[in-house]
Amino acid sequence: MSNIISGKELSKEIRAQVKERVTEIKEKYNKVPHLVVILVGEDPASLSYVTAKERACLKAGMKSTLMRKDETITEDELLAIIDNLNNDVDVHGILVQLPLPKHIDENKVINAIQKEKDVDGFHPLNVAAVHLGEKGILPATPKGIMTMLKSTGVELKGKSALVIGRSNIVGKPVAMLLLKEHATVTIAHSRTTNIKELALKADILVAAVGRAKMVTADMIKEGAVVIDVGVNRVDDKLVGDVDFEGAKEKAAFITPVPGGVGPMTIASLLENTVECFLMLESK
Ligand code: GUN
Repeated sequence: MSNIISGKELSKEIRAQVKERVTEIKEKYNKVPHLVVILVGEDPASLSYVTAKERACLKAGMKSTLMRKDETITEDELLAIIDNLNNDVDVHGILVQLPLPKHIDENKVINAIQKEKDVDGFHPLNVAAVHLGEKGILPATPKGIMTMLKSTGVELKGKSALVIGRSNIVGKPVAMLLLKEHATVTIAHSRTTNIKELALKADILVAAVGRAKMVTADMIKEGAVVIDVGVNRVDDKLVGDVDFEGAKEKAAFITPVPGGVGPMTIASLLENTVECFLMLESK
């Protein structure tokens, strides 16, 4: 029987801490961190994500601006907006919601964001920092996952960790962060042929593949810590990549879906916005 790691509760604590830091910042600098979110197009899921980010920023006492652009915007026009925001001393974080329309090169757009304003941690220099084990802005989901792991009190040093999924925004950075904590890390993916064998040896298991309930109870080592990053819609219900009901009987700690990693991502974005503010102020 597991302990449930509630991202909902933990994210509330982090958001309260961020709010306190924002109050201190306001006293010291007479201004607050300002996040600008750019949404191109009308995708309802993206709109709901950015609305949630904006609301969380405001609740933490920060300033937030949502710039909505028509999906016919050209790449040059978008790059010009980013250039203006890079040069605007009143802007501390820039987030361009992905995906972008096909005629816009996402990499070019991400590369254009000043690295100290890159609250997503997607800029190649921030990606490099994670891989080199240096200081940089961490992508929000991996950062939230590490906060959850730390909250369990389970030592990561020397443990076997399996990350299922090799995406640039979750799998790869999580693997690097676990490595930095001295875990022995394996990355599995869609072409891995012995996932069950690897999973059964894993003290820490992070599932980030986007396949509903692909990690079943018989794949989990007794006493493991299981982090479920999956958000899959099945029959109008959200389910993770892990079969929660079965897995919770074997894991020592497990995250639910919803209410697990999801809320931590937004809390980490708020932390990143404060970090960007402080980095810019100390330049
Ligand atoms: N689209 C889905 N998740 C994200 C995210 O974390 N950041 C950005 N910029 N776009 C996303």
